[in-house]
Parts: sequence; structure tokens; C-alpha cells
Amino acid sequence: MSVILAIESSCDETSVAICNNGKITANVIANQTIHENYGGVIPELASRVHQQNIVPVIQQALVDAKVNKKELDAIAFTRGPGLLGSLLVGVSFAKSFALALDLPLISVNHMHAHILAHFIDDPKPGFPFICLTVSGGHTQIVLVEDYFDMTIIGETLDDAAGEAFDKTAKILNLPYPGGPLIDRHAKMGNPLAFKFGEPQIKDLNYSFSGLKTSILYFIRDQEKVNPNFVTEQLNDICASVQHSIVTILLAKLKKAAKQYGISEVAIAGGVSANSGLRNALNALAEELKWNVYIPAFEYCTDNAAMIAIAGHYKYINKDFEHQDVAPLSRMEF
Ligand code: KG4
Ligand code: ZN
Repeated sequence: MSVILAIESSCDETSVAICNNGKITANVIANQTIHENYGGVIPELASRVHQQNIVPVIQQALVDAKVNKKELDAIAFTRGPGLLGSLLVGVSFAKSFALALDLPLISVNHMHAHILAHFIDDPKPGFPFICLTVSGGHTQIVLVEDYFDMTIIGETLDDAAGEAFDKTAKILNLPYPGGPLIDRHAKMGNPLAFKFGEPQIKDLNYSFSGLKTSILYFIRDQEKVNPNFVTEQLNDICASVQHSIVTILLAKLKKAAKQYGISEVAIAGGVSANSGLRNALNALAEELKWNVYIPAFEYCTDNAAMIAIAGHYKYINKDFEHQDVAPLSRMEF
């Protein structure tokens, strides 16, 4: 039996969750809206807002889970990768809290946690499975052989898929983060209206920087002819961009599953909330007889529930961290 409190603060969400013996009983997320004014996350502002949010978010999580802090068995936290100042708030709080309550500390890799989010609810994937983790900072195809036995078998050589969405949104004058907005407009557009260059990358790796440039030049050329092109064609542009990104993502996922002879396939990370990706993956699964695992929306983007479930499995292994642990903006997978 274990009651674990987990803290996530790697980017611009302050989140605290509680896991009671493998079951999530609280998952509080405070979003930072201040960055919308700047077209991207401003690290210095992010850490300041984490400092304001951390105590009320912890208190709310304890209330939601109906847990007294004296009943906690361990404190889990995101050690990295992420923004150093943001991580520092969560790591420092976790360390002080654990010290004050005399509890073990559990450090969690944010990218492992995105994958382990699949163990929050049923159905859970069976080992080994392949997970495509697509977020704002990462795009990785991971072979998952056990809870903490994971190997990256493909990854992006430049931009992440989430960045491709967000940078395209910026070109289209949509506010940050643009991924969800592109998704919304794409639902009303024709995915085959426009075609963009496809990357020619070997193995199971990805590249998205060429696509971004191809979109930028396409829009620039169209606007020379019609200055209102973006406003008039927004839905078709969004649908076509989304279709391109999803096609690129799934082509390599298909290749990976074939290469490793695996039909248990999952997606994770913020971009796994994308409706185009979810629909296309379900269709591919039917065609290839895969069992697919798609997280609930609340567990796609950054949240502490995934840190808590990772903490639960580390607690079982008694994999505890020392008090001198420091955050890592880049963390080995
Ligand atoms: O996992 P996440 O919350 O944070 C990181 O660890 O990076 O992912 C954030 C990314 C952003 O790039 C955001 O635009 C993208 O996920 N995203 C989406 C959607 N929802 C979030 N991209 C496309 N469609 C969505 N519905
Ligand atoms: Zn993330």
C-alpha cells in the first residue's frame, strides 16, 4: 500500500497528483495563461508563476484526494527534461516537503512518465509495446519492454511534432500554443487541399524543420497573389498541415512496428490529443490488426498523474532519490 504525492513543473503547467496504491485520486493542473501574450513560453515568467501556484495546487490535491499529509508515503517529482527554472520550483518543493515529513523522494523522467500514463487506466498495454511520444519538445519512437526498460528507436533530428504545430500556428497568426487551434480549424477543412514537402529521412527518425519552411514559403507565395489568403483558407490550410504531420508521424510508426514485429502500439504526449492523429491511428490499427492505446485527453498534455503513476512503480522497486538531487534541463532517457 502506498500514497504518493507527485509534482510536475517542467514547463508551464503546475500540477500535483496523488496516487493511492496505483489509483489516481487527485490530479490538479494550474495552466499559465500569461505566455499567450508572448507567442511562446517565457522561462523566467514560468518559474515565477510556478512559485505562486505550487502551494495552493498541493493543498487542492490533498483536499481532492481526501488525504492528510501525514498519510503520505513518498513524494515524487519531475527531475527533467524541461526548463531549469521551472523544474527547480518543483524539485525544491519536493525536497523540502519530503524532508519535513521524513518521506522518501522519487525522481521521475518526464518522458518516461508520458509513456507510463498508459498505466493509469484500463486497458493497459502489454509488454513489449511501441510508443510514439509526441510533445512540444520531443518526438520519439520508444520500444517499451518493461516499466523502466525503454529504448528510443527513432526520434526527430530537428523540431518536435508539437513545435511543427506551434510554429505553423505562429505563421498563421494564431496564438500560442497553436496545436489545439490547428486541430479545431482542421475539423472544418479539407486535408487534401494543399500539399507540402515530405522529409526524406532514413531509419525511424523524423525531421519537421523542412515542413515548417515549406509552409512558410507556400503562405508567402500565396499572399503575394491574395493578401487575404490565410484568413480565407484557414480551415483548409490547418487541415492540410495537420494531415502532413500525421502522415509523417504514422509512416515511421508503421515502419517501427513492422521492423520489431510488435502489434501493441501506443501514443503519448501533448500531440496525442490531436484528433487527426487519433483518428488516423485508429484506422491504421484496424487495417494492420494492432491493439492501440490512446491516453485520455487529460493525460496527453503535461500533468502530475503520469508522474504519480511512475512514482508508484518506482516505490514498488524502492527506487528512491537522495536529498542532494538537482533538476536536469536535459536528462538522459
Ligand atoms: O506534452 P506537452 O503538454 O508538453 C511538453 O512536454 O512539451 O505537449 C505540448 C504540445 C504543444 O506543442 C501543443 O501545441 C501540442 O502539444 N498539442 C497539440 C494538441 N494539444 C496539444 N497539438 C496538436 N493538436 C492538439 N489537439
Ligand atoms: Zn510533456
